[in-house]
Amino acid sequence: MINLGVNIDHVATIRNARGEDHPYPYHAAKNAIKYGANSITIHLREDRRHINDKDLKIISSLKKIPLNLEMAATTKMLNIALKYKPNFVCIVPEKRHEITTEGGLNVNKNKELIKKIIKKLNKTNIRTSLFLNPSLKDIKIANDLGAKCIEIHTGKISNLVKKKKNYNKEFLKIKLCAKYAASLKLGVHAGHGLDYKTTKVLKKITQITEYNIGHFIIGESIEYGLKNVIKNFRKILKK
Ligand code: PXP
Repeated sequence: MINLGVNIDHVATIRNARGEDHPYPYHAAKNAIKYGANSITIHLREDRRHINDKDLKIISSLKKIPLNLEMAATTKMLNIALKYKPNFVCIVPEKRHEITTEGGLNVNKNKELIKKIIKKLNKTNIRTSLFLNPSLKDIKIANDLGAKCIEIHTGKISNLVKKKKNYNKEFLKIKLCAKYAASLKLGVHAGHGLDYKTTKVLKKITQITEYNIGHFIIGESIEYGLKNVIKNFRKILKK
């Protein structure tokens, strides 16, 4: 089976817009699992712009929820991961001024630190993946550093599909990378910018066993959830 990881960061984005408790990422995590997600992803950013420490604490305490923590490669984040023990960690690059994670990790930089982090997480049975651009060289380095999985950044192909441009070259690149990673016995995941269309395209790459999807799922949930919420208000407002 192919796993679906639901990234709930943007539930926290909406919550934080009011500085109150609604909508509650913890409820979104429970509901996503109830409706068929295999895992929940949260990205605890350095600036805590969406998910915060309290969210991590409560969601990681729910042992029935397989949790994937996205984090930057820093000792501070490593200590947080060791404290809350998510099931999985995905190491991602982080720039303070980006709107979202713009590309894969630069695995050539900070090799020793990344290796140390992976080693500590492996020891604690936390499965670690590295978020990479589709690059054979980076996959080889990820394997050498001891990562168990890689997550291929699908931002570029997602944009090409959305703009109805030719995505064949990027598709073949991702396919080659997925095959290579699988031949090294690395788990192959994909994420970023995915919607229905791009997911259908990528599904042809059989080596990809996990998709992590956030913004589109939360956006669609708002569009499709409107029906029920308005119905509830119509009932309340009926004379
Ligand atoms: N995977 C990783 C590693 C991410 O950092 C993100 C968020 O940027 C996602 C998946 C989900 O991306 P999106 O919200 O565009 O679906």
